[in-house]
Amino acid sequence: MSTTDKELRVGMVGYAFMGAAHSQAWRTVNRVYDLPARARMALICGRDTAKVADAADRLGWEAYTTDWRDLINRDDIDVVDICTPGDSHAEIALAALAAGKHVLCEKPLANTVAEARAMTAAADVARAAGVRSMCAFNYRRVPAVTMMRQLVADGRLGVIRHVRAVYLQDWIVDPQFPLVWRLQKDRAGSGALGDIGAHIIDLTQFVTGQRISGVSAVTETFVKERPLPAESSGLAASVDGHAAPTGPVTVDDAAVFVARLDGGALATYEASRFATGRKNALRVEINGSLGTVVFDLERLNELEFYDATRPAVEQGFNRILVTEGEHPYMSAWWPPGHIIGYEHSFTHEMRDFIEAVANGVDPTPSFADALQVQLVLDAVTRSAELGSSWTEVAPALTAAAV
Ligand SMILES: NC(=O)c1ccc[n+]([C@@H]2O[C@H](COP(=O)([O-])OP(=O)(O)OC[C@H]3O[C@@H](n4cnc5c(N)ncnc54)[C@H](O)[C@@H]3O)[C@@H](O)[C@H]2O)c1
Repeated sequence: MSTTDKELRVGMVGYAFMGAAHSQAWRTVNRVYDLPARARMALICGRDTAKVADAADRLGWEAYTTDWRDLINRDDIDVVDICTPGDSHAEIALAALAAGKHVLCEKPLANTVAEARAMTAAADVARAAGVRSMCAFNYRRVPAVTMMRQLVADGRLGVIRHVRAVYLQDWIVDPQFPLVWRLQKDRAGSGALGDIGAHIIDLTQFVTGQRISGVSAVTETFVKERPLPAESSGLAASVDGHAAPTGPVTVDDAAVFVARLDGGALATYEASRFATGRKNALRVEINGSLGTVVFDLERLNELEFYDATRPAVEQGFNRILVTEGEHPYMSAWWPPGHIIGYEHSFTHEMRDFIEAVANGVDPTPSFADALQVQLVLDAVTRSAELGSSWTEVAPALTAAAV
C-alpha cells in the first residue's frame, strides 16, 4: 500500500479494451508498489451516457463525463489517459498538454507522422513546465522483456547480428467479420502494421538499444470489402440470408518487412491478422556474437537464453523463469515461481509513469520515442507502395527542433 499523501487525479478517455486494462492497472498499482504518489481514479469519459455510467461503476471510477474536453477543463484532473482509437489521440493529447495535464497515450502515438510530430513538439514545450508524457507500449514492461534489454545492455549477447520478430493474430480471417474501426485507415491509421507491428518495432528497438534505419516491405489486404458493422449500417452483419451492406477495407491485413538497425543488425518483422490459429502470438529472437535470447508472449514468464561463453559441453538454451524477486518488477508480486500475466504489464506501466511524474523526470517511451516508431511505420508503408524499394526511416526531428 502506498505510504504517500500525494495524489495524481486521473481522467481516462475510452472504456473498452484498453480502458479496462488501464483501469485494472490504476486500481492495482498503489496496492502493489509503494510509490511517491497515489493514483486516484477521478473521471472516466465515453460518449454514451448509460454505457459510460456503467463503465465507471464496473471499472471503479468516481465520476463520468461524455465529453473528453471536461477532463481538460477541470482543475482537479492531473493526468489524462488516452485509450481511444488513433484518430482522436492527437486532438486530445494536444489539448491536455496545453492545459498542463500529464498525458499517457495508447499506441501507436498517432495516425500520421504529422500528428506524431505535433504531439512530440507539444510534449517538448510542456516538459519545460514540468508536464510529462508517455506512450503506452506496455510490452516493454513484461519482466522477461525488460530482462532481455538488461542482458543486451550488459553485453551478455555481444554484438547483435539478427533480430527476428513476429506478431500474429487471426481475428479477421473470416471475410464476413465486419468493417470495425481497426479496418478503416481514417480511424486507425494503418492495419496490422500500426496495431501490432508497432509493438514489435518498439519492443525490439527497446531491447537492442538500436533503431531501425531503413526497410524493404510488402503489405497486403487479403479481404478488400467487408460487411458494415451493425451499429454503422443499422443492420446486423447478415440478416436472414440478405447480404449486409459492405464497405472497403482501407488498411493492410498483413505487413512483412526486412530492416537494418543502426548498430549493424539485420532484422525481419511480420505482423498479420491472417495467421490462422495464432490468437496473439508475439515472438522475438535476438542473436548476438555471444548468445541468443528468445521471448514468446504465450509463455511470458519465461526467457530462453543461450550463453555461448559457457564451456562447449554445457551450451544449450536455458529456460529462465522470470519470477525471482531480483527480476524486473517482480519484488512486489508473489513468491518465486508464482507466475504473472498480461495485465501485469499495465500495472508496471502505471508504476513507472507515476514514479516519473511524482519525481519530476520524463517517463519512457517518450512521445519522441513513439514518433520514431511512427516514422518506421511510415517508411514501411512507403516502401510497400514503391514495390518494396529500400526506404530510409526519416529523421525524428520534432517541429520544435526544426
Ligand atoms: N497496448 C496494447 O497492447 C493495446 C492493445 C489494444 C489496443 N491498444 C490501443 O489502444 C487504443 C484503443 O484501442 P481499444 O482496443 O481499447 O479500442 P476499443 O474499440 O476497445 O475502445 C475504444 C474506446 O474509445 C471510445 N471512444 C472512441 N472515440 C471516442 C471519443 N471521441 N471520445 C470518447 N471516447 C471515445 C470508445 O467508445 C471505446 O470505449 C488504440 O490506440 C489501440 O491501438 C493498445
